[in-house]
Amino acid sequence: MGFVLAAAGSAVGLGNIWKFPYMAGQHGGAAFLVVYLGLVFTIGLSVMLAEFAIGRAAERNPVGAFARLGGRAWSVVGYVGVAAGFVILSFYSVVAGWTLAYVVKTATGLLHGASPGGLGRSFGAFVAEPMEPLVYHGLFMILTVSVVIGGVARGIERASRVLMPALFVLLLLLVARAVTLDGAGAGLRYFLAPDFSKVDATMVSAALAQAFFSLSLGMGCMLTYASYLAHGEDLPRLAMRVVALDTLVAVLAGCLILPAVFAFGFDPAAGPGLAFITLPAVFSRMPAGDIFGTLFFVLLAIAALTSAVSMLEVVVAYFVDERGLGRTRASVIFGLVIFLLGIPSSLSMGPWKDFTIAGKGFLELMDYLASNLLLPVGGVMMAVFVGWVIHPRAVAEATSDGTHRFAWAPLWRVICRYVAPVAITWILVGGL
Ligand code: TRP
Repeated sequence: MGFVLAAAGSAVGLGNIWKFPYMAGQHGGAAFLVVYLGLVFTIGLSVMLAEFAIGRAAERNPVGAFARLGGRAWSVVGYVGVAAGFVILSFYSVVAGWTLAYVVKTATGLLHGASPGGLGRSFGAFVAEPMEPLVYHGLFMILTVSVVIGGVARGIERASRVLMPALFVLLLLLVARAVTLDGAGAGLRYFLAPDFSKVDATMVSAALAQAFFSLSLGMGCMLTYASYLAHGEDLPRLAMRVVALDTLVAVLAGCLILPAVFAFGFDPAAGPGLAFITLPAVFSRMPAGDIFGTLFFVLLAIAALTSAVSMLEVVVAYFVDERGLGRTRASVIFGLVIFLLGIPSSLSMGPWKDFTIAGKGFLELMDYLASNLLLPVGGVMMAVFVGWVIHPRAVAEATSDGTHRFAWAPLWRVICRYVAPVAITWILVGGL
């Protein structure tokens, strides 16, 4: 139970509630959802199980795990993961900082008399003013570092037991409000009635990137958590649970945000600000919206914290286990480095808005490089490693030496050996 909570805590976060709806909004709505679901339950689930099997077999951080099971050359996979940890957490913490800021803003009257257009402008003004978002980014990194210093987050784990179900219930309530707004029907159709002419290489690669991001795959988070797992646990079942839970939350977030986007006349392709203008607009149309809004942003900040902790944990575990740094020291130093790396991402939403590369600001560029390149590359190598290098050992892990039934073992083998490497490479090349 603790492990499912920790792994689900890593998976469920801003990726589901902030990123998924705007990705779906930019890439054709329902067609994106269908492609996303297809990728999640084939490649995503298989790579999740691969990370679990590698982690539990090696009982190490990602760099050490690959070195132990496959020899020095394979440890490069672990390094890709550590690098991805730096890059992703740097902008993730910026967005998590927005969440903290919105806790305060909704609690102190943001919604009073606000129109949807006004809420859009107030988000724009917030990210344009450089200091405030930076302070919240710093605050969020301090929270993340504090949890990681405490070792494998007991308190957070215990808290998640109550808070994650609370987030889920609140989401259901908000979906009910959003779909009954005037004009929400168009948004529901957009999200649930697929138009397959929207499927192209860019969209498929965006869906794959989103699958890796949302499931925390490709950088060794799941591998690291599984390394603490007892032998005898049924890995395929755990993988299935985590994947199903994460996907359910993403779909609910889509059913909340997209109908509201259409009802309020926002642009579904607005990008990273979408959730932060749409959610307050939904709260402003509910009785006791201040209270629901504040509560929601608190729960979202905690969901983001459990994800951020899993990323920093990979970085710290590497420097502690392989480089002999103390845990506190490693957490503080790399927390600070990641904070600094996040500054350009934060500025890119405001003062540096006009500085773009390939049409993307710095924050979106960091996200793109990590999610479309580092994570899929990490994922391919993990699949290949399990499919070709340690296959018998991996199956022994997945079945706990034959004590569990594992009906889809042959399918897992085919996906790890052929489908995932070929499909991911093809998607990577096509997308880039
Ligand atoms: N999956 C988390 C989310 O959806 C973010 C996250 C945590 C992540 N660990 C990761 C993303 C590892 C990529 C890789 O918010």
